[in-house]
Amino acid sequence: MSLLADRLARVKPSPTMAITALATELKEAGRNVITLSQGEPDFDTPDNIKEAGIAAIRRGETKYTVFDGRIELKRAICQKFKRENGLDYEPSQISVSNGGKQVLYNALVATLSPGDEVVIPAPYWVSYPEMVLLCDGEPVPVACSQNNGFKMRPEDLDAAIGPKTKWLILNSPSNPTGAAYTERDLKELSEVLLKHPHVWVMTDDMYEHLVYDDFQYRTIAQVEPRLYERTLTVNGVSKAYCMTGWRIGYAGGSKQLIKAMGAVQSNSTANPCSISQAAAIEALNGPQDFIPKNNAKFKERRDLVVDWLNRVPGLHCPRPAGAFYVYPSCAGLIGKKTPKGETIASDEDFVRYLLEAEGVAVVHGTAFGLAPHFRISYATSTEELQDACTRIERACRALS
Ligand SMILES: Cc1ncc(COP(=O)(O)O)c(C=O)c1O
Repeated sequence: MSLLADRLARVKPSPTMAITALATELKEAGRNVITLSQGEPDFDTPDNIKEAGIAAIRRGETKYTVFDGRIELKRAICQKFKRENGLDYEPSQISVSNGGKQVLYNALVATLSPGDEVVIPAPYWVSYPEMVLLCDGEPVPVACSQNNGFKMRPEDLDAAIGPKTKWLILNSPSNPTGAAYTERDLKELSEVLLKHPHVWVMTDDMYEHLVYDDFQYRTIAQVEPRLYERTLTVNGVSKAYCMTGWRIGYAGGSKQLIKAMGAVQSNSTANPCSISQAAAIEALNGPQDFIPKNNAKFKERRDLVVDWLNRVPGLHCPRPAGAFYVYPSCAGLIGKKTPKGETIASDEDFVRYLLEAEGVAVVHGTAFGLAPHFRISYATSTEELQDACTRIERACRALS
């Protein structure tokens, strides 16, 4: 009898981690490697938030809390949803977990039966299909082309929905493309969802605050109140508050679903870290003025990378509305030869060549379900981005 469960055979290890491991190997061998594959802000957690964590330790808040989050944090989350999204949730409609990732996973564990389908617009964050597979569900990827700004068209959503569809997972702004759905886009998708009352919506709003050029952020339950009852609005402090290591994510949704997610969590990890909960209260209730300051820097970096890559023959880089990723196409390089005579047959070949020839680590688009592209995270310093773009340009120009 095999030690490992059958379902594990369906799950791939994270491809972003594989690139990072290769980059680390090269670094250890003494190579100068620039890593643009990481999904976290390079900015430090703001001091007031750190201090709130330290104060919690000093006050002795070092014990178990309620398994799905302290009431003070749930209240702060309700206020955030009201203030920023116009959504009314009560504390009994809120679940707090160890990062947004656990929120999504709890919701899928709590709702998927074998064979249930989950519609996932592609390109997608790598963990969505893997989580669905771990829960014995079936991911249904829907290709969203660059021509439509990597956003799902209502007719494609309609065609993907069947009798077994349980969820649509929406992610705006998106990891890996940075694409963000406007109010109109969401309204159009809502029209389709209203026709299919058995489909629930999991909206991953993790990058909500990271939008540029006056983009007006909206979440789907706000745009279409008739979907409120069957929407799980997922968010967290990891990205906007530069708190990836603190591990706090949360969701607002129907009481029945939130209770079921709590049942999963109470029997697995129990409460998220008590100290991180205190820090998250400060993040949500405290000053928010560092967010536009960070965004101004992110926007500058986005423009630097987009403008540079669009001058490189063979690359085409759309300018996304949010997050800290760009998702250039490398279609113009497919079929070319490296100076060593190897053919670039896929985005995976290109990414490997870039790492080996110039020491730049990015992630191939195939990993995110739409090729031939690659993802760059620009959450790093301007100097490093300039160096990386110089190297990418040199690598592309060396192909023949
Ligand atoms: C789209 C998306 N959702 C969720 C997460 C997970 O966030 P957390 O670190 O809070 O678990 C990430 C992290 O990279 C992400 O990119």
